[in-house]
Amino acid sequence: MKLKINSKGLQGTLKVPGDKSISHRSIMFGSLAKGKTEIHHFLRAEDCFSTLHAFESLGVKIEDNGEVISVDGVGFEGLKKTPFPINMGNSGTTIRLLCGILAGCDFEITLFGDGSLSKRPMNRVMLPLREMGVEIMGISGTEFPPLTICGTKNLQPIHYQMEIASAQVKSSLLFAALQAKGESVIFEKEKTRDHTEEMIRQFGGEIVVNGKEIHLKGSQKLYGQKIIVPGDISSAAFFMVAGLITPNSQIILTNVGLNETRTGVLDVIVEMGGKISVTPSKDRNQKTGEVKVETSELKGIEIGGEIIPHLIDELPIIALLATQAQGVTVIKNAEELKVKETNRIDAVSLELTKLGAKIKSTDDGLIIHGKTELRGGKVTSHGDHRIGMMLQIAALLVKEGMVELEHAEAVNVSFPMFFEELEKLEV
Ligand code: S3P
Repeated sequence: MKLKINSKGLQGTLKVPGDKSISHRSIMFGSLAKGKTEIHHFLRAEDCFSTLHAFESLGVKIEDNGEVISVDGVGFEGLKKTPFPINMGNSGTTIRLLCGILAGCDFEITLFGDGSLSKRPMNRVMLPLREMGVEIMGISGTEFPPLTICGTKNLQPIHYQMEIASAQVKSSLLFAALQAKGESVIFEKEKTRDHTEEMIRQFGGEIVVNGKEIHLKGSQKLYGQKIIVPGDISSAAFFMVAGLITPNSQIILTNVGLNETRTGVLDVIVEMGGKISVTPSKDRNQKTGEVKVETSELKGIEIGGEIIPHLIDELPIIALLATQAQGVTVIKNAEELKVKETNRIDAVSLELTKLGAKIKSTDDGLIIHGKTELRGGKVTSHGDHRIGMMLQIAALLVKEGMVELEHAEAVNVSFPMFFEELEKLEV
């Protein structure tokens, strides 16, 4: 696909589409609760439909009237065996969290995904789940999908020190722990997104969180709720950066989710000197707000340590931002980027280099020298939605030539209307 180049400016307001992490979990909690769950502002994107279809395959009745998704909860004990393998598509969140959910189901089931998912590491959930009594195996004895899992009604609680900062691993274990015979304790390496903990409470469960230490009792019951999914700050981030680096721009993003375990990108923009203002919503329960950005002079900074999990999905677009900042930006402690939908350290440096950026990959991050003018070229998303969207924002700065993006369809994983929404903001 030929990308839009040489933008004359972006002006206007965008209502941010639903949060991907919360949309997945709404279907999961809705299915595992007793009674009906209504989901408003669900993210209608491929990843979340992988979760929705997975639960339908497991016997949950889910209705979609085009506005609201209604889930008829069956409780943990109500999931049904299906003889067919279930397709997880591209979604790491679906497969890893589902492993924890199926940990308490005493039937065998196979979970598979696309080429990218089939290369993603699963020992991170398989090893602790085995400790709890689950039989789980990757293809030919490896840790890679397809995974075959057989849970147990006699699931043991776990005391687990996490070795990586991962909300997917934590959430998988929390779903298993909810079904275990006793109390589990999980110690996080770094604090990661806490949507699962929040939603356990929201659905009537009990959980105790002391910093990085989480206590959760087993055999809990959950009850259906009305969920209003906030806008996804990870999707909003592409437009924040677009507004900051495109000349003559001012963008207002509404309904942005502002859960404090997700807002690292806002801190980075402020530290780089970006003109950004955040107005939290008056409804304190919602944890959303309006974010306004405008064209800015930026400076390079160092990004590493405990902030990394709070902006892990935003690092590709932050790398682009850094190409337009004066000086050097160093991103470190981000080795998890290597095992995302693609190796995002390599993909970002390879593709941005093709457009003229001065960017080098390191073992655990990137070093970016700015400020550089970008030029046309042939690039690829590597089938990764966030790389594809980042490259379109980069193309806006290209004055001459063309930017041709291979596998632009990858954006459908999290933001199917991305190109259309960008077009609407063009002056
Ligand atoms: C997610 C957690 C993150 C993130 C992913 C969604 C979640 O992965 O990158 O896009 O919904 O829990 P890790 O927890 O593995 O870092």
